[in-house]
Amino acid sequence: GGRVFSGIQPTGVPHLGNYLGALESWVGLQEGYSSVLYSIVDLHAITMPQEPGQLRDNILNMAATLLACGINPAHSILFQQSQVSEHAELSWILGCLTSMPRLRHLPQWKMKSKDKKEGSVGLFTYPVLQAADILLYRSTHVPVGEDQVQHLELAQDVARIFNKQHGELFPIPQALLSASPRVKSLRDPTSKMSKSDPQSLATVGLSDSPDDIVLKFRKAVTDFTSEVTFDPERRPGVSNLVAIHAAVCGWTVEEAVRSAQGLETAQYKLLVADAVIHKVAPIRVEIARLRGGQRVSGERSDPRRPAGPRSRSTAAG
Ligand code: TYM
Repeated sequence: GGRVFSGIQPTGVPHLGNYLGALESWVGLQEGYSSVLYSIVDLHAITMPQEPGQLRDNILNMAATLLACGINPAHSILFQQSQVSEHAELSWILGCLTSMPRLRHLPQWKMKSKDKKEGSVGLFTYPVLQAADILLYRSTHVPVGEDQVQHLELAQDVARIFNKQHGELFPIPQALLSASPRVKSLRDPTSKMSKSDPQSLATVGLSDSPDDIVLKFRKAVTDFTSEVTFDPERRPGVSNLVAIHAAVCGWTVEEAVRSAQGLETAQYKLLVADAVIHKVAPIRVEIARLRGGQRVSGERSDPRRPAGPRSRSTAAG
């Protein structure tokens, strides 16, 4: 039973945080629910300036990436948000039930409007559109990373307000958090890994080459203790590596720490890079195949590496 809904913005190649925080669980949730919907939320993307040609390309890249990750149209509905005009329609109705102070307190508005001094009305009401995305399908379960929990709480509040005024229409949607709901930046392990990070070494993209991935982990910020332990408060850098390692291997953090016994941090970084490559390389190859050899923006060309085997069978096949 239950309906799953989630969305991702088509603003460039997804990163390891998107994958471990959300996309990997999207794949697993395709079984066991009465309906499962995943949306490429282009109406959310235009809350920040977008070049139209680039946005169109990003939507296609995102579709290819989701298929490459294992989203299978035989088991779930994958669609472009702006093709279903009811998202914008319901957003208007729900916006009329939402107070301005409720939106003003949400962290994304506080952060993004501070940078720009004055954000757009669209950026301000963005969480209402997100609530509409979810409630439009009377969704019950929403797999997201930790940074979306407050948006989910707004969707719950709006559903309650609507139900109270007009009768029980919407189920109260629940957030589903993965085992690694907050993957940190490799350059600043106190902040989350983010698509908009200006430091290219901070973020591992799903279309990064193995060489890029090794480089990024080699340069990952840690501390001056060479032993590998898991202590997110006092050792955020190493702990982020352990958390990533555990996530990509399907281990607990204890198992990941045990596998690092006798290794110095510098050696451990290469072990983690290797495990990440193992996870990400097939996705990268499949994205390239689906895009018919077109280069995915953000990916660097590497003349030494061919596109990879063409006959690979995939979960999406
Ligand atoms: P977006 O596009 O920023 O991110 C997509 C998903 O990736 C998760 N995520 C992370 N998880 C762990 N660690 C990280 N460092 C990390 N960075 C991102 C996000 O939590 C998200 O699950 N507003 C949403 C898109 C959206 C949506 C919806 C989601 C629009 N409508 C309805 C769910 C339901 C967003 O901007 O996600």
